[in-house]
Amino acid sequence: MEIVKSVKEMKELILEQKALGKTIGFVPTMGYLHEGHISLVKQAVMSNDIVVMSIYVNPTQFGANEDLDKYPRDFEGDCKLAEKEGVDFVFFPANEEMYPNGYNTYINVEGITEVLCGAVRPGHFRGVCTVVAKLFNIVMPDVAYFGQKDAQQVIVIKRMVSDLNINVKVEVCPIVREADGLAMSSRNSYLKPDERSAAIVLYRALSGVKRLIETGESDAGRLKEHIYEIIRKEKLASIEYAEIRNAEDLSDTQNIKGNVLIALAVKIGKTRLIDNIIINNI
Ligand code: PAJ
Repeated sequence: MEIVKSVKEMKELILEQKALGKTIGFVPTMGYLHEGHISLVKQAVMSNDIVVMSIYVNPTQFGANEDLDKYPRDFEGDCKLAEKEGVDFVFFPANEEMYPNGYNTYINVEGITEVLCGAVRPGHFRGVCTVVAKLFNIVMPDVAYFGQKDAQQVIVIKRMVSDLNINVKVEVCPIVREADGLAMSSRNSYLKPDERSAAIVLYRALSGVKRLIETGESDAGRLKEHIYEIIRKEKLASIEYAEIRNAEDLSDTQNIKGNVLIALAVKIGKTRLIDNIIINNI
């Protein structure tokens, strides 16, 4: 496995592989790898000749009062895991490499970035889209792998790829959870023991609402109220949003019909966690 820090070198290595007729699978990450990230790598290794993983904590997607400085990092541990799983290249650029002096270009996907996480994290998706587009231009992948854990991110990236005619296939992989249902996340490492126990309230709320839908409830308002009730019972939790939206375009929906996304953002102490499920109700 090779670690590459320069954009120029990364591009040269990729072009070499492409000249040999190799297909490129790409897994963009911010590191501090867990089984969620690894599930994307496994998919990429299975379906491509060459697998590139980027590890880059992208400053432009963090708000001024967010956790950029304390975002967990373990580059050595990440490399060991990546190598074991069969990653060929780890792209690990410095900030000056990605955003050199004079950098002035940003990508803004409109509308769908103004709801859910975009409403509480203004500028977040502008940063995500900008860095992902840059990474796509550097790594030139045939297929890029993203997790359903970040449901809105997937929808926004797919929109950008389609709108800007980017030559990459976006593959979405299911959410990987801990044994008790907590969705794996690098930010789970912030949780103190009592907060870790409280954090399962997100999955409990999503499972509860799923059961309610299965018993015939289809009114989005009543379903949201059910989520609020469950989360309010957990003292360490404060809800940021609980929303039910069309799973393809994030439009508002009053009724559970077709593919709907039930998405949650909840603070457990100071740690912000997100989770979601997709329900297919015909
Ligand atoms: P990061 O949070 O490191 O996540 C990298 C990828 O792993 C994302 O596609 C995310 O959805 C996926 N992932 C995280 N937890 C997962 C889980 N429990 N199950 C399945 N997949 C999971 O998302 C980012 O980084 C950044 O925004 C990035 C796309 C790299 C741009 O900076």
